[in-house]
Amino acid sequence: MRQSLVVGNWKMNGSLEANRSLIEGIKQNIVSVKNAEMAVCPPFIYLQQIKDLLDNTNISWGSQDVSQQDLGAFTGEISISMLVDFGCKYVIVGHSERRSIYGESDKLVAEKFAKVQSAGLIPILCVGELLEEREAGNTEAVVKRQLDAILNLQGVASLEKSVIAYEPVWAIGTGKTASPQQAQDVHAFIRKQIATLDSNIANKVQILYGGSVKGSNAKELFAMSDIDGGLIGGASLKADDFLAIGQAG
Ligand code: 13P
Repeated sequence: MRQSLVVGNWKMNGSLEANRSLIEGIKQNIVSVKNAEMAVCPPFIYLQQIKDLLDNTNISWGSQDVSQQDLGAFTGEISISMLVDFGCKYVIVGHSERRSIYGESDKLVAEKFAKVQSAGLIPILCVGELLEEREAGNTEAVVKRQLDAILNLQGVASLEKSVIAYEPVWAIGTGKTASPQQAQDVHAFIRKQIATLDSNIANKVQILYGGSVKGSNAKELFAMSDIDGGLIGGASLKADDFLAIGQAG
């Protein structure tokens, strides 16, 4: 049985004040979340604040990105050892906003994935197709290409200590959720791809769904056999909404 995981990706949102009240709100009612592990990924600059607020709780935290480099003259970048310093458990890599707005390639995402694992942290690898790609019938080919970049660089064993998030780009921030069956189909495809290399790892790896998940649709999504939780954007910014999603886990 795979542990259910619900991760809040705050994206570029938050302030010292807003974060404090959000985290206090989550902590106040975290007992209502019975099955899922809960984690939040704030902007880098708030990691110390979040660490202070979440130390000694059962809520985890992580970052939204990492540099593929170790250290040195890379202005504006954040290294994996810095994320270790701030107690991160998870690091999101290859979010579609990084891929599309900042031009991150499959190869770069795979290098970041490797860097996260080299420090013992858990990458949350995002994959997912654009609307045009779905409409052209290329969803599986796109997801396979994104996954293969990791498999080629790191091998299937690397997936044992990772999380995969399927986020169809057309469902992100649009209010247009993939139907539970649409999501399940892609999750099952991802698991099947991994199973061709190692069925044990395929059974173990958590595959999250992301894209307009809300308290009102989380239960039916998470009820699908290959959906192990969610990567949540907008709805992770309100304690009650985020907790309602956790309760569905
Ligand atoms: P929304 O939940 O706002 O659609 O965002 C999903 C997402 O991109 C999480 O990484």
